[in-house]
This record gives sequence, structure tokens and C-alpha cells, in this order.
Amino acid sequence: MTRTVPVGLGARAYDVVIGQGVLDEAGQRLLPFLKNRRVAVVSDETVWGLHGERLSAVLDRSGIDVSPVIVPPGEHTKSFEGLADVIDRLLGLELDRGDLVVAFGGGVVGDLAGFAAAVYKRGIEFVQIPTTLLAQVDSSVGGKTAIDTPRGKNLVGAFHQPRLVLADLDVLATLPDREVRAGYAEIIKYGLLGDFAFFEWLEAHGREVLAKAPEALTHAVARSVEMKAEIVAEDEKEQGRRALLNLGHTFGHALEAETGYGEALLHGEAVAAGMSLAFRFSVAQGACAAQDASRARAAIASAGLPTRLADIPGSPFAAERLVRHMAQDKKAEAGKLTFILARAIGDAYVARDVPAYAVRDFLLAEGAGQ
Ligand code: NAD
Ligand code: GLY
Repeated sequence: MTRTVPVGLGARAYDVVIGQGVLDEAGQRLLPFLKNRRVAVVSDETVWGLHGERLSAVLDRSGIDVSPVIVPPGEHTKSFEGLADVIDRLLGLELDRGDLVVAFGGGVVGDLAGFAAAVYKRGIEFVQIPTTLLAQVDSSVGGKTAIDTPRGKNLVGAFHQPRLVLADLDVLATLPDREVRAGYAEIIKYGLLGDFAFFEWLEAHGREVLAKAPEALTHAVARSVEMKAEIVAEDEKEQGRRALLNLGHTFGHALEAETGYGEALLHGEAVAAGMSLAFRFSVAQGACAAQDASRARAAIASAGLPTRLADIPGSPFAAERLVRHMAQDKKAEAGKLTFILARAIGDAYVARDVPAYAVRDFLLAEGAGQ
């Protein structure tokens, strides 16, 4: 069963096609966007090694010439150096504005290739073929592209919408379980931030989603994408409601910074712990009932995801250092901290002007060091 979710952005509207085997339709689906029958496929070594031949064969059958641009896997590739390398190789291929970049991989490849496409010759079109659960439910949709700098994550980037997103659920067969759980964190996020009924459905069916049972997985991905598409269509440049998609991210990014953006703590795991912390912080701020925070935590923990600082390798972290990372986060304006907090499960809101001392006290109560 294939589901198509439209992202309603007027002249820049596009479809997210979700289902088993949609990769096999890539050639036919890309052709309408090609002036020349050639594409540069940016992928990482792991994804290309596992699925590159299949994608090349599919595109070849439609007479599309494929130039692979393969990068090392991992967050460290989402850097100025990684960007310079990709752009240099696109220039070497003499790609022009009539050609297309295809981002074939997880969120790292999508963010990097998308940003490269945004700045290459002042902008070239691109298509996302996300291969991780996280990328399928979140990063491939909505047009945020970016690289990291030593000062923090995603600090340099652009809004650049893809022309099409093809989310083939079959490619998830090779995704390690830990990455599946990390992606599942972003799925729970949608329930927690704005859809209580979906959260309840996940409580009942989360195991099936994690086991990649086709029907449950299709529903979970499609509902997540629907929610993201609806929010992005309303607030593409994050002037308001789109910020809700950052639930768990202020805590999460600080934890990723402390753990070095690597294997110790995956992005989705950081978001999982961050969401649990955000719910408990909401309780501490008097905004949310304690039982909602417990229920949110239980749902996250039952997926094998971290929910407490103590669950994270390297803990205890110094509260002061975590707060400093948060203050450097681009969501911090004029020294005030911005958090996505919750009134209840399914009812998140943007809290600006959160005082740093309140966050520090909360982190100390959560077991952070002085
Ligand atoms: P990732 O791209 O690093 O992929 C995780 C790992 O899985 C990599 O080692 C990759 O090689 C491997 N992999 C990918 N697909 C595979 C497959 N099908 N089978 C086997 N292995 C596979 O990480 P991610 O979790 O997909 O993305 C995280 C990144 O996404 C972060 O940089 C984060 O900032 C970004 N992000 C961006 C947005 C956005 O809106 N742009 C949203 C959320 C996250
Ligand atoms: N992942 C947050 C956003 O796309 O806005």
C-alpha cells in the first residue's frame, strides 16, 4: 500500500510518497523533474553499499545517468569540509541548474546534500530518498537543510524544499535496530506535541512499528509526515508553530554537544531523552500534570530509548555546561532560553524567556553535576 502526503507550499508544493518498494518507481517518478536525464546521487558509504546498486539499476532503466557522490557516514560529514567536498564534486561533474541532486541516505546525507543543492550555483533542485526511519518521518520533509559547526548543530543552513520525497519502507530492512528506535523517537514526538490519539495508538502499536510490521509502520510514517506537512505548510520558515517540532531538541542538542555528536548518543536518542526532560520540566514549571510526564516517559522508555540524564553515556554532565550549550543554540534569542513545553500529552507550546537559573535548578534535580 502506497500513501502520498502532499506538502502544500503553493508553487513549491511537493509529494511525500510512502510505501514498500517505492524505490523501484524512482526513475518514473523523477523524470518529470529532469531537464537532462542525469542526476548526482549524494549518499553515504553504508547506504550506497547496501542499496546503491538497486537505485542505479532503477534509474538506468528509465535512461537516467547516475553520478554517485559518496561521503563517509556519520554526523561529522555534516560540516564545512563535508560541504566543500560535495560541492567540489558536483562542480567536477559540471552539474548545472537543469540537473537534479538526489539525497539518498539518512538525515546527515539529506541535510548535507540539501544544503549543497541550496547553494550550488545559487540553487539547484533536489529530491529526497530517505533511508532511515528518522529521515522518513522528519528530516526529509520540510526543507530544513544545514551543516554543523564546532559551535553547535545546524548553525549554517538554508530552507530549500525538495521537489519530491520517496520513502521506501523496504530499505529500512537493513537499518540497525538502534537506528530504528532513534527514528521512533521522532514518531512519538508527533503524538506528544500535537496528537493525543496518535500517542495512544503508539502506546498500543509501538511494538509493531519497531518490528517494522508493514501496516503499522506505514500508518506511523504516514501520520508523522501528515503532521509535519501540515505544520510546515502553515509555517515554513519557523516564525511560529513549526517550533513545536523542536520538542525535546533544546535539551537534546545540549546532550549531543556534550557527547560529541557521535555513536555515544544518536540524534533520535537525544531527542527521546530531551522530550522526557521537557515534560518533567513542564511539570516543574507548573504547566503540566505529573502523570502526563510519567506516561510520556513510559512510552519513550518502552521503546528502549533513554529518558533520564543517567541513561546517557558520560553522565553526570555539569548543569552549567548543559545550560551554556542551550544558550548557544540558535533557538536562544537575546540570552533568553526558548523551550518547547507541554500542557499535556498532545498539547505542546513555545515558552520563550525561560530563565537559565530555572533550567539549571531542574537539571541539578535531574542528577546533573554542579
Ligand atoms: P544518519 O544519516 O547518520 O544515519 C544513521 C546511520 O544509519 C548512518 O550510519 C547511515 O549510514 C546508516 N543508514 C542509513 N540508512 C540505512 C539503511 N537503510 N540501512 C542501514 N544503514 C543505514 O542519521 P539520521 O538519524 O538519519 O539523521 C540524523 C541527522 O538528521 C542529524 O544530523 C539531525 O540534525 C538531522 N535532522 C534534520 C532534520 C531536518 O528537519 N532537516 C530533522 C531531524 C534531524
Ligand atoms: N525537525 C524540525 C523541523 O523540521 O522544523
